[in-house]
Amino acid sequence: PRVAVIVVAAGSGTRLGGRAPKAFVGLDAHTILRHALRGVFAAPAAQVVVVAPAGREGDALTEALETAGDRRDLVSIATGGSTRQESVQAGLHAVWPDVEIVLVHDAARALTPPAVFERVIGAIEAGAAGAIPVLPVIDTIKRVDGPAIVAAVDRAELAAAQTPQGFRRDVLDAAYAAADEDFTDDAAVVASAGHPVAAVAGDPLAFKITTPADLERARGLVAPVAP
Ligand code: C5P
Repeated sequence: PRVAVIVVAAGSGTRLGGRAPKAFVGLDAHTILRHALRGVFAAPAAQVVVVAPAGREGDALTEALETAGDRRDLVSIATGGSTRQESVQAGLHAVWPDVEIVLVHDAARALTPPAVFERVIGAIEAGAAGAIPVLPVIDTIKRVDGPAIVAAVDRAELAAAQTPQGFRRDVLDAAYAAADEDFTDDAAVVASAGHPVAAVAGDPLAFKITTPADLERARGLVAPVAP
């Protein structure tokens, strides 16, 4: 089945504290978006849709074409919206008609290893309507009410969701068309439409660059090791 990867890169990056939209912040000589696209192009994708901030579509296209090598025909660009959900929706509109599996990936998870893409695609090829990478929760989690601890939550029942999140294309299209509230990820949109979503193993390297500390960590991971 043909796979499209929608890379949402239209966030402002307010929590990062910089002036450039987050996807265009540099890790080394290259941007967060460029690093994310390297992982995407290592996956067996038939189409890569980059959802750019309004006004930065040309820069996103340049990044994508320079990463694509001889697969430049795969690249599409869409303009993002004011929420992640709107940006995904814009990306979905640009997916080609013959695509059967759609992965939605945060550009901010710039160092996601290709194996994570392969696990997600593999789960859908094996019959799942949707599949997302997850990691076990390390911290002890409490339910709180203001300053009061209300309950301990059994962390064995919890997992932290990452991206790429993959879905059968028909399922994702229908779920987004029906979504009438704000969800924090694509799996929640699909679950709200009544479809089961499977978990596959995530990877610590698929962490989301959100805060300045995350940015420093990512920069350390891509920096060349001194001899
Ligand atoms: O803000 P946050 O880090 O949760 O965003 C996750 C991903 O969604 C990022 O890659 C960001 O660029 C993208 N996004 C988007 N459009 C928005 C908000 C976020 O494409 N309006």
